[in-house]
Amino acid sequence: MTTIRLDTALLDEWHPVLLSSALTERPIAVRVLDEKVVVFRTAQGVHAFKDLCIHRGVPLSLGKVAGDELVCAYHGWSYNSCGACTRIPSLPAGQAIPSKAKAIAYSCVEVHGLIWVCLGEPVSLLPVVSRHIQDGFKEVFMGPYALEAAGPRIIENFLDVSHLMFVHEGLLGDSEFAEIADYHVHEVDGVLRSDEIVVYQPDADGTGRGIHSRYVYEVFSPLCVAFTKRDDATDHIFRLFLMVLPETEKHSKAFMLKQRNYALDEADEVFVAFQDRLIEQDREMVENQKPELLPLDLQAELHLKCDRLSIAYRKRLRELGVTFGTA
Ligand code: FES
Ligand code: CO
Repeated sequence: MTTIRLDTALLDEWHPVLLSSALTERPIAVRVLDEKVVVFRTAQGVHAFKDLCIHRGVPLSLGKVAGDELVCAYHGWSYNSCGACTRIPSLPAGQAIPSKAKAIAYSCVEVHGLIWVCLGEPVSLLPVVSRHIQDGFKEVFMGPYALEAAGPRIIENFLDVSHLMFVHEGLLGDSEFAEIADYHVHEVDGVLRSDEIVVYQPDADGTGRGIHSRYVYEVFSPLCVAFTKRDDATDHIFRLFLMVLPETEKHSKAFMLKQRNYALDEADEVFVAFQDRLIEQDREMVENQKPELLPLDLQAELHLKCDRLSIAYRKRLRELGVTFGTA
C-alpha cells in the first residue's frame, strides 16, 4: 500500500492534468499526487472532483455530463459543479436528498491550453507559470509524455546542461565540446534564473541547423520550468516550457509547450517529432536513476559546478518542503 505523504507544498500547487483539447463532453479520469480525480467540462467551464461516488464507490469518471451536471453511471445520482447532489432518481417524490450526498470538489482552471487542478488551497489564483508564458510566439504543445519517473527527477533532467552532449549527441550537443563554462543562478521575483550558458548544437531544433545556442533556464514552481534559447547568429528564439504532473511518486506526465519566433511556415509536426525523439533518449536515463526519488540532501550525490542549476533546484524544493517525489 502506498501512503500519501503530507506535502502541503505540492497539494497547494496547480498541476496540469490534460490538454484543453483532450476534454470534450466525456468526463476523464486523471491522477494527481496519488489521488484519483475526475475532470469534466460544462457550459460554465472545467471542474474536478474526487473520482468516487459516495453512494457505492463507483468512479464518477464512468458517468456522463448531462444538463451541466455529472451523472454517476451506477444509479444516476446527479452532481452539480459545486459537488452537491441535485437528483437521486430512485428517491420517491417529495423525499429530501441526504445532505451528505456530495462529491468532493477540487479547484480547477483552464489556462493557456491546459487544464489545471489543485487539491489543496491554491497558492495563486492561476498557475504561476502562466504569468511567464508570453504572447507573440508560434506555439505547439508536445506530449503529454508518460514517464515512469519522479516529477522532480524529470525536472532536474531538463535543467541538466551537461547531459545534452551525451544523451542527445549529434542533436543537442557534441561530446567533443562538452565543457560547460561556469555560470550562476539568480533568484528574481521568486523565479530561479540561470546566466546564459552557451552550447554547440549540431541539430538544435530538428530542422538540421547547427548553431551555438545561448540557454537561459528558469524555475517557476516545483514542477514548472522553462528554457529560452537564442541562436548566437540570428534573432531566433526558442522557448520550451516543461510542466510535470506528479501522478504518483514514481509516475509522471510531462506536458511541453514550445514557442518560437522563426520557421513560422514549418509544420509543427517537425518539432513535435523531434521532441518525441529527445524524450525517448531522456526516458532511458530518468526511468533508471537510483534512487528513484530526487535526493534533497546535497551530500547524497556528487555535484560539479556545472550542476549549479540542479543544486539550486534541490535547495528550492527543500525550502518549500516538497516531499512527494523526493528523498
Ligand atoms: Fe453512484 Fe450509486 S454509486 S449513484
Ligand atoms: Co534531455
